[in-house]
Amino acid sequence: MSHHPSTVLIVGATGSIGRYAVAEALRQGYAVRALVRDRARAARVLPAGADLVIGDLTRPETLGPAVDGVDAIVFTHGTTTSERDVRDNDYAGVANVLKALGGRPVRITLMTAIGTTRPRVAYAQWKLRSERLVRASGNPYTIVRPGWFDYNQPGQRTIVMLQGDRRQSGSPADGVIARDQIARVLVDSLQVDAANYKTLELIAGHGPEQDDLTTVFTTLTPDSAGSLDAAEDVVDLPLEGEPELFCHDLSAIERSRHQTPLP
Ligand SMILES: NC(=O)c1ccc[n+]([C@@H]2O[C@H](COP(=O)([O-])OP(=O)(O)OC[C@H]3O[C@@H](n4cnc5c(N)ncnc54)[C@H](OP(=O)(O)O)[C@@H]3O)[C@@H](O)[C@H]2O)c1
Repeated sequence: MSHHPSTVLIVGATGSIGRYAVAEALRQGYAVRALVRDRARAARVLPAGADLVIGDLTRPETLGPAVDGVDAIVFTHGTTTSERDVRDNDYAGVANVLKALGGRPVRITLMTAIGTTRPRVAYAQWKLRSERLVRASGNPYTIVRPGWFDYNQPGQRTIVMLQGDRRQSGSPADGVIARDQIARVLVDSLQVDAANYKTLELIAGHGPEQDDLTTVFTTLTPDSAGSLDAAEDVVDLPLEGEPELFCHDLSAIERSRHQTPLP
């Protein structure tokens, strides 16, 4: 049986999913660290029991205390659909946290979005690049791409995981799911061995929520070892054409991975 983490950092803890993730991780018995920008606001919106750590994802020098001593990280942060915002916060946040780890192994769960592989959608491509960095980091991970938050109908609570990112209308027709359920899947994935190295789109079907998600994770195909892309994705982003920023981050993260081999 593999080692399961006990101390988790929630990135984007004050966000609409992050708040649920903090509550769920506390409920599941984790020591919870919450990365926040504004302590007073965080104290208002987060449940008691989380350790608040101040940091800004755009300022790498602030991230050391957040990652120090944690053995899992759940990324729930995000901004807008502007290419610049997503590059400078959503993407750079993942890059900077991975670099702050300096190759120290941790269990990672990254939330991005359904439709991340849509061709020629510039902001989505930066989300995809953040996924690529997580795969390249050498850490055990789960990448969760949720459908539209809280567009579900009452009773639409059966957790469904898809692969291949084939739903690309960019509307709730691609799939919907409640925020609390997204948080539950993010936190559950840390403990389920069958969730390791898997990338999935997360939506809800009509019917009740499952008590145990092991079977749902087990049906998924793991990403190929050494591949930057998810198992069933169609992605046309050859490294030769990728932005310098990404190529630079990728090589820094790959280098640090080799310095600290996984146990
Ligand atoms: N809405 C949907 O239906 C949907 C569906 C699928 C995926 N998504 C994705 O989900 C992501 C999150 O959405 P949300 O509605 O939960 O957003 P949200 O409520 O605005 O939360 C975003 C979180 O990220 C944090 N954050 C942003 N930039 C940061 C930085 N530079 N440093 C530290 N923290 C930072 C925010 O901190 P502060 O509180 O300090 O601002 C906040 O905690 C979006 O990016 C979107 O792509 C959304």
